Amino acid sequence: MSRIVVLTGAGVSAESGLGTFRDKGGLWTRYDLSEVATPEGFARNPRLVHDFYNARRANALDASPNAAHVALARLADRYTGGVTLVTQNIDDLHERGGARDVIHMHGEITRALCAVCETRWDAPRVMDPADTCPACGARATRPDIVWFGEMPYHMERIVAAIEAAELFVAIGTSGEVYPAAGFVDIAAASGAETLEINLEPTPVPGRFDRVIAGPATQAVPDWVETLLREV
Ligand code: OAD
Repeated sequence: MSRIVVLTGAGVSAESGLGTFRDKGGLWTRYDLSEVATPEGFARNPRLVHDFYNARRANALDASPNAAHVALARLADRYTGGVTLVTQNIDDLHERGGARDVIHMHGEITRALCAVCETRWDAPRVMDPADTCPACGARATRPDIVWFGEMPYHMERIVAAIEAAELFVAIGTSGEVYPAAGFVDIAAASGAETLEINLEPTPVPGRFDRVIAGPATQAVPDWVETLLREV
């Protein structure tokens, strides 16, 4: 049995109604990421940043998991070779689709973080710059999101899982944001087979050994069922 690492991106939640970042009409075509997704932007205008993530949180909480989330949970549950599910997504749709132990490398919109004492807690639906930290009282609460210029979470665990894997699968991600974009190279260098599942596969030919093109809600369940039949 092969060990599998699955990396997901915004494309896996697109059919749940959550916008992607770089597609036509995506979030980064409508917002300046340096203003809403950097520590410097937050220092300049915490109200703007909280408003941006309050809208993301409302969208995520009002969305439902789709067939791709459910299929990946089923894979992790049924596949005995071992599946590590890593997501760049900040929504909780993998968990609500039934997945356990999801590695959120870019943080979670449902969690809050104190920038002073680093305490974390469940975020309220609406966060406000005037909120205080429940542990130290500082008025420095932020969404528990990894911003550009910050180190993604759980990197050691993720790289170790990729180096031990026989199959690496990237689903619904443009492969433009490092370090996640480099995971396929780590996997290939460690001898793993690499597979991309995407509506429109990345334009760099040969980056993955195999590509499945299609919407996540169809392509992912089909791939999962094929894999489970093979074992
Ligand atoms: P992107 O918006 O960069 O890419 C979304 C990918 O999903 C594209 O490759 C699309 O082709 C694909 N896609 C769209 N709809 C799909 C569907 N229905 N089925 C399958 N694929 C589909 O989003 P990410 O790659 O997730 O980070 O972006 C990576 C990071 O950049 C995010 O985590 C976020 C962002 O800035 C931070 O904010 C730190």
